[in-house]
Amino acid sequence: MARVLSGIQPTGALHLGNLLGAVRNWVEDQHRADSYFVVVDLHALTVPKSPEVLRRSTVEMATLLTAIGLDPDVCTLFVQSHVPAHAELSWFMECTAAFGELRRMVQFKDKSDRAEFVSAGLFTYPALQAADILLYDTDRVPVGDDQRQHLELTRDLAARFNARYGQTFVVPEATIPRAGARVMDLQNPTDKMSKSSSSEAGIVYVLEDLEAVVRKFKRAVTDSESEVRYDIVAKPGVSNLLSILAACTGQDPASLAEGYSQYGPLKADTAEAVVETLRPVQARYAELSADPGAMTAILAKGAEKAAAVANLTLTRARDALGLLPRG
Ligand code: TRP
Repeated sequence: MARVLSGIQPTGALHLGNLLGAVRNWVEDQHRADSYFVVVDLHALTVPKSPEVLRRSTVEMATLLTAIGLDPDVCTLFVQSHVPAHAELSWFMECTAAFGELRRMVQFKDKSDRAEFVSAGLFTYPALQAADILLYDTDRVPVGDDQRQHLELTRDLAARFNARYGQTFVVPEATIPRAGARVMDLQNPTDKMSKSSSSEAGIVYVLEDLEAVVRKFKRAVTDSESEVRYDIVAKPGVSNLLSILAACTGQDPASLAEGYSQYGPLKADTAEAVVETLRPVQARYAELSADPGAMTAILAKGAEKAAAVANLTLTRARDALGLLPRG
């Protein structure tokens, strides 16, 4: 069975873009592949944050992923720092990557331009991500388009390590979801919905109050025409509503467009479809949060399953490199 792995940072609240663009695909993947999903708390350390916030958001993210449908009996859900092999393989990857190669990473350039403190960890972030992936002999990595370059780097590092030290790692492939699942900001529909967006009105959070969600859709930016048509270049706002409605109802955005002649009903139907998508997730989240011990147990079991696989790969890599076995 193919092995799938993906990761998500425990920073910021999960929004509709994360849900429809990535996490919902993971829920399907878990039934088709041997799947590993990791809350990457070590990656979150690349930008200084309060320990209290990190602790809380790590549990929240794991709980939310479970509420959305990652089933701990079907997939392996765990926290990165619970499996120390990640940090160790990351060092091997740092020594496999070239300085110039890491310097070319677009995400590093973006983040370091905006940050007032640029940690060395922010620079070596992709080496840790490569370690996450390679530890599990991963075949496929379902990620958003913004991670394409990190995946290319991971493939290069795996191939380089194998060429230098002998066959050790599986060279993984990225699976980037169709453009249809790209959720744009409701106020600036030419930008992706993102936590760094300028206005809260443009983002819908998975745990947001459902009445507030409806209001945000009512106020979503469209355009001054009135025709409903799926055309992401000429009509980004309307097309975004159509893609969200399509993603929530499992239909096709262009054919959905034929059913509407005005923006009002399209906004109302999209809001309702999103509310019906979020409602069960919020209910399940509330249930799971009521019993924090259950989540701790799920994550402990996940870490144990993950470590069993990761440690085998790590031993292989240590031997290949010529590190002396402890005996
Ligand atoms: N860098 C990814 C992001 O920002 C998160 C991530 C860390 C990841 N490790 C991973 C994604 C391993 C896929 C596989 O979205």
